[in-house]
Amino acid sequence: MRKKIIAANWKMNMTNGEAEAFFEKFLQELGEDRKVEVVIVPPFTALAKAGELLRDVQNVNLGAQNMHWEKSGAFTGEISASLLRELYVHYVVLGHSERRTLFGETDAIVNRKVHAAHANSLTPIVCIGETLAERDAGKVEEVLATQVKGSLDGLTAEQLEETVIAYEPVWAIGTGRTATPEQAQEAHAFIRGRLAAGWNAEVAAKVRIQYGGSVKPSNAGELMAQPDIDGALVGGASLDARGFAEIIQATRALLE
Ligand code: 13P
Repeated sequence: MRKKIIAANWKMNMTNGEAEAFFEKFLQELGEDRKVEVVIVPPFTALAKAGELLRDVQNVNLGAQNMHWEKSGAFTGEISASLLRELYVHYVVLGHSERRTLFGETDAIVNRKVHAAHANSLTPIVCIGETLAERDAGKVEEVLATQVKGSLDGLTAEQLEETVIAYEPVWAIGTGRTATPEQAQEAHAFIRGRLAAGWNAEVAAKVRIQYGGSVKPSNAGELMAQPDIDGALVGGASLDARGFAEIIQATRALLE
């Protein structure tokens, strides 16, 4: 029922030339099968080039890594939803743990951005997840519940349905240490339960929840096979065209 969604978060990587080389190889590897939705999230500087290369490609959409909540104005160094829309951007990643820990983003800030995304017809991919210290202290559910409430506060059920959540345990990001499929499934089911409690069960059943944290071709299949895991937000492994295509192929294989 929920279409799987696999996204490539390129973070602060990829020149325009590198993006062009990536797409040449990636689109060939991807083939014509469109059962899985793909999102490419380049740095701002490669959005225009990526948009141009993806213009005629169905079901491979463009995302941005961040944005400001205001429409326009004196916000040096920031970018708004309407500026992103002009570049054919459909998705925007908000509240990534790197934004939260390195740039001080709080749930309240993320929440303003989530509302701005919806007001401008961008679909937010809202990242949440616990640190290792929080997991070790047995606080996973408390942290996730707080982030779900704080980041998504005030959304209507219709807006929530058009929101993607990415569960990214901070200890699994860029560390090569993936959550086990059981750990990830448990967190995803908990998050879905919070959505049902805060909104309703019907909309909670429709929201797509991605897993992120050291996803690679060798572990994608078992993670994506979990009932509440609806896709992946891939960092490092998404920089390699063949590896990223293999993650999509492993997901597709589950649908056959
Ligand atoms: P890695 O896949 O490199 O662990 O990064 C995950 C991530 O942060 C995606 O947003």
